[in-house]
Amino acid sequence: MNQDQLKQAVARAAVEYITPMLDSDTIVGVGTGSTANYFIDYLAEKKGLFDGTVASSEASAERLQSHGIPVYDLNAVDGIRVYVDGADETNPLLQLIKGGGAALTREKIVAACSEEFVCIADESKWVEVLGNFPLPVEVIPMARSYVAREIVKLGGDPVYREDVTTDNGNVILDVHNMQIAKPLALEDALNNITGVVTNGLFAARPADILLLGTADGVKTVK
Ligand code: A5P
Repeated sequence: MNQDQLKQAVARAAVEYITPMLDSDTIVGVGTGSTANYFIDYLAEKKGLFDGTVASSEASAERLQSHGIPVYDLNAVDGIRVYVDGADETNPLLQLIKGGGAALTREKIVAACSEEFVCIADESKWVEVLGNFPLPVEVIPMARSYVAREIVKLGGDPVYREDVTTDNGNVILDVHNMQIAKPLALEDALNNITGVVTNGLFAARPADILLLGTADGVKTVK
């Protein structure tokens, strides 16, 4: 199977996994990216069996609505039963790097509000130590240079993602050349830099379950 087929397989597996949770009150949190897009397309087959969704990006909201799936403002719902999203990297503790699609802040908010976080990823995302994928950091635009200098002090090599504005009107710095031995500590340290909105490390709130697409089938990691 190629990478796209692995993404389709885990998206399909995620819909099967959450189906027993669906009833007329269920709110599903929906992530962003190519794997999440497949999930949205398969979730459409369950339309009417659940209340609706909260989306982690404008792009996902539009895709959900194109299928006729209700999308709610997060402030209008009581809670999210389950959140399904992709990742750029995952380690064996299911700590993640996310934000390759620049949606990290809303993804982190939706994950924080969800009872259960199901990560869906193809096997190329599996690593022992996070950090080969450049770590995205969302930054208030006027603080970009200051935050970049502070990141250098932490040992990273920040690169401004030009021509990208997040759904929140901010910019992204991608931090290269970091082997992240202590994800929790780095997540905290980056969030403590004034001007940082959030960073793409999901260590304080890792995934609860990973559906990993491999050549031998979809593996479940908890
Ligand atoms: C979006 O900002 C990201 O966090 C995505 O979840 C991540 O980049 C995975 O994307 P793909 O499913 O396209 O690989």
